[in-house]
Amino acid sequence: MQRKDMTQTVLITGTGRPEALGFNLVRRYLEHGDRVLAGIRRPSPALEELAQKYPDSLHVLTMDISSTESVNAAYEEASAWTDSLDLIINNAVATSPDIMKELPDCDLDKVAPVIDVGAVGPLRVLKAFLPLLRKSGIGGLVVNVSSEAGSIGKCYRSYYIDYGMEKAALNMATMTMHNYFKDDPGMNIICLHPGWMRTNEGNSRAPLIPYEHAETLRVLFERKRHDKEGPVFITYTGEAYPW
Ligand SMILES: NC(=O)c1ccc[n+]([C@@H]2O[C@H](COP(=O)([O-])OP(=O)(O)OC[C@H]3O[C@@H](n4cnc5c(N)ncnc54)[C@H](OP(=O)(O)O)[C@@H]3O)[C@@H](O)[C@H]2O)c1
Repeated sequence: MQRKDMTQTVLITGTGRPEALGFNLVRRYLEHGDRVLAGIRRPSPALEELAQKYPDSLHVLTMDISSTESVNAAYEEASAWTDSLDLIINNAVATSPDIMKELPDCDLDKVAPVIDVGAVGPLRVLKAFLPLLRKSGIGGLVVNVSSEAGSIGKCYRSYYIDYGMEKAALNMATMTMHNYFKDDPGMNIICLHPGWMRTNEGNSRAPLIPYEHAETLRVLFERKRHDKEGPVFITYTGEAYPW
């Protein structure tokens, strides 16, 4: 049984799909005895079902991270539910229908909205929820779920224009915030390549099962909470990934 004094309060974005990572992180934190604010942008029957099982420890929060107004309203709602926050997991992501296309066929007008969700969105969330995170009694941690696709050094694709730029921008946002928190022992931030997960029909060959993998990540995040000297962009084994 989880000790009461070890429980934490976690905010996770993009949690509405039962087959995806966000929802399974919510499950793992709840099973561990933690309190969870689960961000969604549209109703999720799976999450509503989970909320009935965990009426006191799960709060479903409607929050479109592309909208500052929506994120700020979500912050007000969250503040009525909790006095502090210990962990923010920026998991939500957007892609355009042109993700697999190379330049001649890619509609570039679809790229900026993707970056707005996946790179600016996490900063919107962090900016709004920072007052709650600063009240953490165990040290506030932010995890930005990035991807190997955001690595400029290891980039090999000639497609993924939207997704690659979105994750590279998220990595830059992470390092910039890491610098911002440099002298604050109570705050830390990392970005993560979570590995290839079986989160939808399109990647049914992927080796990692989201529910199993969510527990690996939950344990990893606790190892990183106070690690300000180690790598900032890491894989799910905790090793450095090239920027
Ligand atoms: N799957 C993999 O193998 C893999 C590999 C490397 C990195 N990653 C990263 O891991 C994370 C989770 O991946 P996944 O495959 O589980 O993701 P996913 O199934 O695509 O889920 C993404 C979530 O983000 C939400 N979202 C999209 N736009 C939003 C917005 N404006 N506001 C709030 N939420 C929004 C979606 O909501 P709706 O349900 O309403 O659309 C969805 O629930 C992502 O950051 C992804 O880039 C995944």
